[in-house]
Amino acid sequence: MSDLPNLMDGKKIADAMRAEIGDEVALRAKEGRQPGLAVILVGDDPASNIYVGTKEKACQAAGILSFVERMPADIDQQTLLNKVREINEDDRFHGLLVQSPLPKHLDEEEVVRAIDPRKDVDGFHPFNLGLLALNQPRFVACTPLGVMEMLERYNVDPSGKHAVVLGRSHIVGTPMALLLQRKAKGANATVTICHSRTQDIASYTRQADILVAAIGQANFVKEEMVKDGAVVIDVGINRVEDATKKKGYRIVGDVDFAAVQPKASLITPVPGGVGRMTIALLLKNTLLAEELIHNSK
Ligand code: GUN
Repeated sequence: MSDLPNLMDGKKIADAMRAEIGDEVALRAKEGRQPGLAVILVGDDPASNIYVGTKEKACQAAGILSFVERMPADIDQQTLLNKVREINEDDRFHGLLVQSPLPKHLDEEEVVRAIDPRKDVDGFHPFNLGLLALNQPRFVACTPLGVMEMLERYNVDPSGKHAVVLGRSHIVGTPMALLLQRKAKGANATVTICHSRTQDIASYTRQADILVAAIGQANFVKEEMVKDGAVVIDVGINRVEDATKKKGYRIVGDVDFAAVQPKASLITPVPGGVGRMTIALLLKNTLLAEELIHNSK
């Protein structure tokens, strides 16, 4: 697949970024500085476990101090809030994130609000999402930031284009739309957000010069929903049963890749596309957090 001419290779870009980040960490080390990232993982959701393990390894490879606090699934809200506040006060860690989703009995919004916005490398805190909405971005969610980085590195200028975002989650759809429409170099798109209540989604997606799929439904975007020559960004990570695989499943995106790929001018694969970028941008946000804290001293 990697030899398709219109493929946006997230692995290649993410590897290049991670090498750049490693160089920057080495420079700061000469000044006795080390960026640190703390992650809180509640429960034993297998997908979250894999994500957190990947984040940990990526930090270590880049020379970033990494710490994972694993808490049992039945933890109460107050104990979790206390842990967040403890890490807020811990100078070794410049970034802090709580892996989502949390078990149902916990109030995730309250937990996110408890994170020091200066350490909110996920960009989920209302303060940081508000700054983005006001076109003063500081910490922006890593996945949409990764999409913008890919567009830039593949010379896709969204200015004046119609970008259609499928999904309005706080993690991807909402910040994605804000990033694409903001008045800034590499942005300035006209943006439409489609979601579960949108009628006739295909009538919008067919108008998209840039189509970002982030709805979490395997192979949702079909060939007839895509305009010829569109740039197609697939944020989906869905498990589908596959008896031919050892694990019994395989990972597919929100886009029917085989059908849509020949029609797109550029397209991201799953895996090997946006997912790779998310981690690279998390490391970059951790460097930004260390920089901001260092400069405020
Ligand atoms: N769960 C899925 N993606 C993310 C992410 O980017 N950050 C956090 N904290 N949880 C997630």
